[in-house]
Amino acid sequence: SQTVRIALLGAGTVGAAVARRLCDPRRADLYAARVGRPLELVGVAVRDTTRSRDGIDPALLTADASGLVERADVVVEVMGGLDPAPALLEQAMRCGAQVVTANKQLLAQQGPRLEALAAENGVGLDYEAAVMAAIPVVAVVRDSLAGDLVTSISGIVNGSTNYVLDLVARKGVAFDDAVRQAGELGYLEADPTEDLEGLDAAAKIVLLARAAWGADVSIDDVQRTGITGLTDDDFETAAANGKIIKLVASAWRSGPPENPRVEMGVRPVALPQDDPLAQAREGANVVIIEAESAGRLRLHGAGAGGEETASAVLGDIVRAARRVVRSA
Ligand code: NDP
Ligand code: HSE
Repeated sequence: SQTVRIALLGAGTVGAAVARRLCDPRRADLYAARVGRPLELVGVAVRDTTRSRDGIDPALLTADASGLVERADVVVEVMGGLDPAPALLEQAMRCGAQVVTANKQLLAQQGPRLEALAAENGVGLDYEAAVMAAIPVVAVVRDSLAGDLVTSISGIVNGSTNYVLDLVARKGVAFDDAVRQAGELGYLEADPTEDLEGLDAAAKIVLLARAAWGADVSIDDVQRTGITGLTDDDFETAAANGKIIKLVASAWRSGPPENPRVEMGVRPVALPQDDPLAQAREGANVVIIEAESAGRLRLHGAGAGGEETASAVLGDIVRAARRVVRSA
């Protein structure tokens, strides 16, 4: 084929932003130069093909996701959920397509199985967008620090709860109103309890622990408390003590590097105002990585939102497309 054929599964908050960028002529030239061949969006799978979607040619829309997968070199899953996403990714890999996904719940639950399937079929599985959206943290802990020894990772890894906590603490907005606003900005998951109960943050810390240490860990290993149990009293006490409540996710390693013991937690913590983790405002995320030789690294940026997440998805698409061109 003269192009690298891209199938997009989902055109919601993230997928629509990815589709618009792939169809933008200025970006198209850039991607063709970076990949060595033009990228061609061959279809966009959605549930409702009758709804018009800004910036997406209606002729690209299809309800037949499985049929679309068969026509692609790179399959990009941004539909979310645990059904039918894994079956479609499996089908893609068995057809020899490269796979990109932003689906952290799926990866947290089935990542090792999907990685094994990718290896078996000689294809890549990229998921930078699944953890902290625009912030390239998976690549940092897995690749950039591969010659070092990461000792701990801690951060604000969920944009919507950070938005809610920030609005409640700093602007006195009512909890329910802040949740509604986070939804309007496209920060919340289709099931908002994933965010509010800390499951989204737990999935992300699992993915980081696997990326940093190759650890055999699951979401059940995370000590988890969400933010729905917080009361006005908690916010008032924190403010009276000059503190701000944040939902902190952390993972730390002990034991020998070849057989590390990994512990993980997600919980609300009252942090001093000048704590680096307290600096994340609104939908921002921040992560601090400690490594034996590198010392302390801090990454800060947008942790949710369509356009921001699309940045990471598009980066994975370019990486995957380069593999397609290399193997041709
Ligand atoms: P949305 O709910 O906004 O969009 C989901 C899209 O998938 C919709 O276009 C929907 O179709 C389509 N879809 C869902 N189920 C099916 C199905 N069975 N068949 C065909 N199409 C289907 O989700 P987001 O864009 O917010 O999130 C997508 C993924 O990205 C999730 O895994 C999420 O965790 C992850 N993510 C999201 C971020 C964000 O800030 N929003 C950030 C980082 C990761 P239709 O439009 O017709 O309903
Ligand atoms: N719901 C997620 C969040 C989206 O609030 O961080 C980004 O992963």
